[in-house]
Amino acid sequence: MEPGHVAIIGSGLIGRSWAMVFAAGGFKVKLYDVAQQQLTSALENICKQMKELEESGFLKGSLSVEQQLALISICTDLKAAVEGATFIQECTPESLELKKKIFSQLDLIVSDNAILSSSTSCLLPSKLFTGLKHVKQCIVSHPVNPPYYVPLVEIVPHPETDPFTTERTYALMRKIGQSPVKLNREIEGFALNRLQYAVISEAWRLVGEGIISPTDLDLVMSDGLGMRYAFIGPLETMHLNAEGISSYCERYCEGMRLVLNTFGPVPEFSGEAEQKISQAMSERIPVVPKVLDARRKWRDECLAGLSKLKKQMKSD
Ligand code: NAI
Repeated sequence: MEPGHVAIIGSGLIGRSWAMVFAAGGFKVKLYDVAQQQLTSALENICKQMKELEESGFLKGSLSVEQQLALISICTDLKAAVEGATFIQECTPESLELKKKIFSQLDLIVSDNAILSSSTSCLLPSKLFTGLKHVKQCIVSHPVNPPYYVPLVEIVPHPETDPFTTERTYALMRKIGQSPVKLNREIEGFALNRLQYAVISEAWRLVGEGIISPTDLDLVMSDGLGMRYAFIGPLETMHLNAEGISSYCERYCEGMRLVLNTFGPVPEFSGEAEQKISQAMSERIPVVPKVLDARRKWRDECLAGLSKLKKQMKSD
């Protein structure tokens, strides 16, 4: 990508993480927010996180903490934040109204060269970008929490997005060490959440119907399916679990269809099942900020270790 800085709009959980990922990739970052206090605490938090990452040997990129921090500046003036930016990553709360307002403000001030990218988890590009003058430069780059440790980014174009915008976004994500995937057209939930929700809904049904306990259900993933899914996807799993895909279909399609036909309706995610799951989870991990934060920290350390292992084991 051409020289220029990256502007991050919104300095919450995801904005901070993007700022760290881009700085690790050597990019100048301007972090913008409506709240000065939010920006100050974002910078403090980024600094703390980077130092901890350096100590544990998990700091990304080839630059030192000081060099990476020197690349990040904060700003409460939207125009100043995006002036000269070649890539703008919007990370404001998940509200269509708010995001539309921000993109229409950006539409008035960006150059014809900048990419306008949204971190949205579920808002469709056609809802976010239709009618913008710079729609050809607009795209969704949906990260996975926490983006610093989980590299996948779903790139989802608006029907009018210029293919060059998609290519530039894809190349930029590769350059900063993320793992981009392209969706050819928009769909509710993109790809990641469609897979995730399929898993959550069957997990909910199995526990709700009393077939398995909440703790054992989670083990099915963490000590079972998840072990290989960190390395190979469901399609490669099929390929390797028989003599290729066709052989897998020949052997297992009848069984798969039989099981799939027993899947129930979409759960309500409320009532007795919710109480049961909530109680079991809260007994293991009480809903207390300190406990939740400690568990998240442990999760992030696991993910950092896993990403190191994945790099060592890389086969293509
Ligand atoms: P957050 O609530 O932590 O941060 C939002 C930030 O936006 C806050 O700092 C807030 O002050 C700022 N903000 C509010 N109005 C603003 C405005 N008009 N202009 C500039 N900044 C403004 O939210 P979070 O979790 O970082 O989510 C941001 C986006 O990322 C959402 O669209 C969300 O769906 C998406 N996302 C979130 C993931 C998650 O697990 N938290 C994962 C993947 C995507």
